[in-house]
Amino acid sequence: MHYPLVINTCLSALGMLVTLKVIPGFGEVFMKAGFKGRDLNKVVQKEIPESAGMISGAMFLIIMFLFIPFPFLEYWVSVKPQTSHEFPHADFVEFLGALLSISCMIFLGFVDDALALKWRHKLWLPTIASLPLLMVYFTTFDLTTIIVPKPFRPILGLSIDLGLLYYVYMGMLAVFCTNAINILAGINGVETGQSLIIGLSITIFNLLELSGDFSEDHIFSLYFMIPFCAVSFALLYYNWYPSQVFVGDTFCYFAGMTFAVVGILSHFSKTMLLFFIPQILNFLYSCPQLFRLVPCPRHRLPRFDAKTGRLGMSYSRFKTSELNSIGALILQVCCIFHIADVRSGVGEDKQYTECNNLTLINFVLKVLGPTHERTLTIYLLTIQVLGSMAAFFIRYQLAKIFYDV
Ligand code: UD1
Ligand code: MG
Repeated sequence: MHYPLVINTCLSALGMLVTLKVIPGFGEVFMKAGFKGRDLNKVVQKEIPESAGMISGAMFLIIMFLFIPFPFLEYWVSVKPQTSHEFPHADFVEFLGALLSISCMIFLGFVDDALALKWRHKLWLPTIASLPLLMVYFTTFDLTTIIVPKPFRPILGLSIDLGLLYYVYMGMLAVFCTNAINILAGINGVETGQSLIIGLSITIFNLLELSGDFSEDHIFSLYFMIPFCAVSFALLYYNWYPSQVFVGDTFCYFAGMTFAVVGILSHFSKTMLLFFIPQILNFLYSCPQLFRLVPCPRHRLPRFDAKTGRLGMSYSRFKTSELNSIGALILQVCCIFHIADVRSGVGEDKQYTECNNLTLINFVLKVLGPTHERTLTIYLLTIQVLGSMAAFFIRYQLAKIFYDV
């Protein structure tokens, strides 16, 4: 039994109970401070507290700050007589660097919630917050070599040193993880639900690898994932349909950065990305709107039908003449392959085109038809679980074709 893990689990359980207790009390405080949002998919769109992710983020940091001494206790107290008394400064720096990046991301997420930043600014926040992490990686590990997949070895050799490019990749990973969760959003419980499933999947992966050659890396990851899952569960309890609180961008950034941190510092970023299959699909589908090739409204969440109480696809309507040739081509391809619902020649003088907002949530609605909000969240979380099962299959079976695992 690894005693710091036991202490971490106990602190996490305690943190979860405290988070469950304090979220309702803080609601009023958040509302008074202006942190509130309208629940758009309801008959009565009442205002509820926003940015409750701040509470779970703060509790995560409290758990981690209380936990800091425990993994290193054996170097001060002779628990094991054979322990070398050389203090592992590099491990300690990794621990603090990881916490610095996560704290920075929580702070910047809260700034985003307070100031409602524009998308072009949002992209910079994770880049800035990942800098301490990259610096720690540089000073402690600095391994930028990747193993080439078997089929490419005759051409590229066994490994390639990516150098600076590897740092660019890690920075982009942080930007992707944070924003990918933030854009798979808009129905009660989906931001926290997907993050909890990714967190649990990483935890299971770490536990499976505990007896392997890199057990230290996986223990490091567990130190972060167990408290993360605990505080996310508490938040999901209040964010589940019908939501009593919204999690805010604070939570999406906190979750994404925590995943990026463990993926990078525990050296399993490829496997970590495998747990993001639904987010990758949502990002790819969203690209035409994210890169403004097709007009993108402020909110892309599904449209609520008050008569049926169900959610249907939401549409973006724009003048056909506003579309550039690449946008028009993309919509044509989407139409041919039935991956989007495009209606041209609508509205005044038939000058407008309508296209469903390009999100995975709308795509599920396109396939299944109008659905109740809670059921839709359950479908999306089921897709997340299926994605994790596929990830485990790829990691443990398919990877054998490409790597010596
Ligand atoms: C992202 C999405 C946006 C989506 C929004 C919903 C992109 C590019 N951006 O924007 O399309 O509409 O998230 O979170 O894909 N809300 C609900 N019900 C929920 C969750 C949120 O009605 O279950 C509404 C509330 O009014 C809340 C607001 O969404 O105040 C939060 O939106 P915010 O997180 O600020 O949007 P973005 O992250 O910028
Ligand atoms: Mg958001």
